Amino acid sequence: MPTRAIIELANTCNLDCPMCRVGQHGVNFNRVMPLATFRRIADEFFSDFTEVRLNGLGESTLIPDFDRYLDILASYPINVELITNGTGPERLYRRMVDSGATLLFSWDAATPELFATLRRPAALHDVRAIVQSVASHAAAAGRSQLLHLLFTLLPANIHELAAVVALAADMGIPTLVVNVAKLPDDQWMERRADDCLQAFTDADDAATRCGVRLFLPDTFAQRAVSLPSASPTAATRCDRPWREIVIRWDLDVQVCNMFNPYTYGNLSRAPLRSIWEGAFADAFRQNFKGPACHPYCRGCAYIGDVYARKQG
Ligand SMILES: C[S@@+](CC[C@H](N)C(=O)[O-])C[C@H]1O[C@@H](n2cnc3c(N)ncnc32)[C@H](O)[C@@H]1O
Ligand code: SF4
Ligand code: SF4
Repeated sequence: MPTRAIIELANTCNLDCPMCRVGQHGVNFNRVMPLATFRRIADEFFSDFTEVRLNGLGESTLIPDFDRYLDILASYPINVELITNGTGPERLYRRMVDSGATLLFSWDAATPELFATLRRPAALHDVRAIVQSVASHAAAAGRSQLLHLLFTLLPANIHELAAVVALAADMGIPTLVVNVAKLPDDQWMERRADDCLQAFTDADDAATRCGVRLFLPDTFAQRAVSLPSASPTAATRCDRPWREIVIRWDLDVQVCNMFNPYTYGNLSRAPLRSIWEGAFADAFRQNFKGPACHPYCRGCAYIGDVYARKQG
């Protein structure tokens, strides 16, 4: 059975980021996993999991009774993680810091203009006020290490990566993890490889200068990234299909946190164990990294075990 679950509580969003578009039709609370369903999942599986990450295609902190979901999580001895756009209530983030949860704030730009384009209609100044206040709270509690920025690299923000490293330091966030956008134009990385590799070098320098712990992919567009901040990606080695599972808001069960759309089954039709051991999951694993490998997995830039490496 998996030990790590990614749970999509909300498949709806208050922002409309161009690389995602989940929020293009505005917020729709019909696309939220009901609390009773979450409780049932917790009762059935949480004692098997060591980690639960709240993520998915949407923004969990929008859920009006998000506190009740956190209450359920708090009743299990699991490591909780949240990926968020940073527009949620500050009180919720502080509560999560107090409970020892890891928070990853998505942050893709250093200039207000680009931020407004990539995180429309949010404004850098407003989100910064929230994140910085959470960072001060964490620092006062000696828990800054729980906070991370998550930078999704796109053609539009390549040149802002180093400045976001500096911004992380300014805001009191000790770690920045680089994720690479999967876009309909899957050749963008090839075309911009030189620019990206230069941006990685600049970011690596900035990280050393500012004392930020930076996680860069060690391979980009099939080129080696030989920098101190480079970490092995899932393109080299990936154990996700044997360790983790994604439960979407509608109970679809999928492969991994990279939004690989391959679906093993649905929890309303079969129990998790039979989905996990079923023919679709088996076919995914059998073909993994072989000639019939899922296209999402080729060149995958996912950097796993960041927290283990951070402590190591
Ligand atoms: C889909 S969001 C969900 C959580 C929350 N709404 C947020 O933005 O942090 C999770 C992460 O996926 C990233 N993301 C969005 N579109 C992506 C894409 N096309 N390829 C890779 N990552 C993407 C976001 O930047 C964010 O860091
Ligand atoms: S905030 Fe997150 S879920 Fe919402 S549109 Fe942006 S990336 Fe997608
Ligand atoms: S998409 Fe990436 S993280 Fe997910 S299973 Fe494939 S290689 Fe692993």
